[in-house]
Amino acid sequence: MAVILDMASPNQLDKGKEASAAHMLDHIEIDAETDALYVRVKDFITPMEWPSIAKRVAAINALKKEKRAVILAHNYMTPDIFQLIGDFRGDSLQLAREAAQVDAEIIVQAGVHFMAETSKILAPEKTVLIPDMRAGCSLAASITGADVRLIKETYPGVPIVTYVNTTAEVKAECDITCTSSNAVQVVEHIAKKFNTDQVILLPDQYLAQNVAAMTDITILTWPGACEVHELFSADDVRELREAHPGIVILAHPECPPDVLEEADYAGSTSALSHYVSDRQPAQVVLLTECSMSDNVAADNPDVDFIRPCNLCPHMKRITLDNIYTCLVERQHEVRIDEEVRLKAKKAIDAMLALPKMAKPLDFDVGLKPLQIDMVMTAA
Ligand code: 13P
Ligand code: SF4
Repeated sequence: MAVILDMASPNQLDKGKEASAAHMLDHIEIDAETDALYVRVKDFITPMEWPSIAKRVAAINALKKEKRAVILAHNYMTPDIFQLIGDFRGDSLQLAREAAQVDAEIIVQAGVHFMAETSKILAPEKTVLIPDMRAGCSLAASITGADVRLIKETYPGVPIVTYVNTTAEVKAECDITCTSSNAVQVVEHIAKKFNTDQVILLPDQYLAQNVAAMTDITILTWPGACEVHELFSADDVRELREAHPGIVILAHPECPPDVLEEADYAGSTSALSHYVSDRQPAQVVLLTECSMSDNVAADNPDVDFIRPCNLCPHMKRITLDNIYTCLVERQHEVRIDEEVRLKAKKAIDAMLALPKMAKPLDFDVGLKPLQIDMVMTAA
């Protein structure tokens, strides 16, 4: 059993806290249970590196028990986090559902800030920690609550769907949230509820275009984009096919529509993971964040993964070390103004109240990209 010395000193600077937390690791013993985990990460961590990583894993797992904490790990976490310390793992929709129901005092969000906010919105009685407050998202940064208020003035009565990759302040101004696991279901539901054939879906212009191609609802959007997925192009897909004949190409719907036009399948991070587990393609490429392939590969040893690597710099701010420090020091707590939280919760609850889909949404592939309009604001 690992020994945890809780020497929390809330007034120290982060650097000092990291140093003292790192020093405590010297006292950690690696138990047999932790050592047995090595097989899950043997392709990513060398035997030389393992003892120091195992110490951190043992310490984190002991701290979780001691502090009644759980770690919600997004599919883009590096394998050391995803495979070794994540209690609940999955896409943004799965993690939001877990946050709402998990029995714990502390939630550590191994993901980005909007995900931690979603957890806090749904579980206000729990302490929600994010190991690095700077773990943002280009989509969440592309729009503010004030922007949405202007949109509402310009388009009175048109329902607004926000992708969950937004701040609590933005969610608070919208009618309902969606994720890439349920976006078409949400858009069609809200159009019916408002008795309209026009819906605003923000802030991801590419997700909106990809959704628009699958529904008769007219969709207006906002010029946001994921800085990771917008880097993939249709040329990449063609080059991959030429270099690897027979390869199966899977894409996340945050990719531009011409990428989905050329891909074999598209869906949320969980949908991509299910595709590989269920169909066991001989060779596959996931056009999404880098670590996703490492995590899916660990569970599918017979599948050959080609790995073009686009890293999300925000997701990569989360490390074993800062997870450990944030647990020791109980630091980087996510707080949300109560009025904003309640309004944002309404939008998330509206999504969670929809019938749970049997499996995450399959996006259409092979379609010509559909051009859709951006919202115009008076400003
Ligand atoms: P998922 O909802 O598919 O997990 O996507 C979240 C995300 O940030 C993708 O870039
Ligand atoms: Fe945001 Fe893109 Fe990173 Fe996902 S991968 S968190 S959408 S920047």
